[in-house]
Amino acid sequence: MAAAKPTLQIVIGSTRPGRVGGAVAQWFYDFALAYEGFEVELVDLAQMNLPLFDEPHHPMRRQYVHEHTKHWSQIVSRADALVFVIPEYNHSMNAAIKNAVDYLYHEWRYKPFGLVCYGGGARGLRAAQALKLSLVSLKMFFAGDVAIGLGVTPVVEGVFDGDEQLVVSAGTLLDELARLTPLFQSLRA
Ligand SMILES: Cc1cc2nc3c(=O)[nH]c(=O)nc-3n(C[C@H](O)[C@H](O)[C@H](O)COP(=O)(O)O)c2cc1C
Repeated sequence: MAAAKPTLQIVIGSTRPGRVGGAVAQWFYDFALAYEGFEVELVDLAQMNLPLFDEPHHPMRRQYVHEHTKHWSQIVSRADALVFVIPEYNHSMNAAIKNAVDYLYHEWRYKPFGLVCYGGGARGLRAAQALKLSLVSLKMFFAGDVAIGLGVTPVVEGVFDGDEQLVVSAGTLLDELARLTPLFQSLRA
């Protein structure tokens, strides 16, 4: 019997009504499905309904008191690798993604991650740099990024279609994740 494929979660980081993040994440999700190396899950932060961090204990203790935290913990626990799809807000990451990261600790550790970032001229890379610092501090391993300039490749009528260069970046990121994920699975075991 073939070994189960590792689970790749693609997290939609923007929770803004009218966001473009859903369309960008859908593009990457479809691409990751076609890649066939992973069980792919789309995780929508907007549906997690996480308030501003409200757990009394450091997540390192895993003594969660709120159902929303237990639910979020269960979801991220399933992941073997993650790709965060994030916008740039005020030259940094958006608040919802940082809040969601802060809720957990063990659930993130020793998992490889990629970033699909988007914005104007800086293509969301300042957001990516900011989030990377936090994720690396949680002992996640950076596998690469796909940086999207919405001025060059916009979302049109709710659909995002990456150009040739973005397709190459997305493929490179998935190759890296496919290479790293088994190593981190055995490390966690
Ligand atoms: C509060 C706010 C701040 C923003 N700041 C930046 C920025 O610093 N750099 C940038 O390239 N785009 C910036 N933008 C533009 C966003 O990249 C663009 O609106 C994008 O669609 C946001 O992602 P979302 O639609 O998925 O929420 C900002 C947008 C918002 C709402």
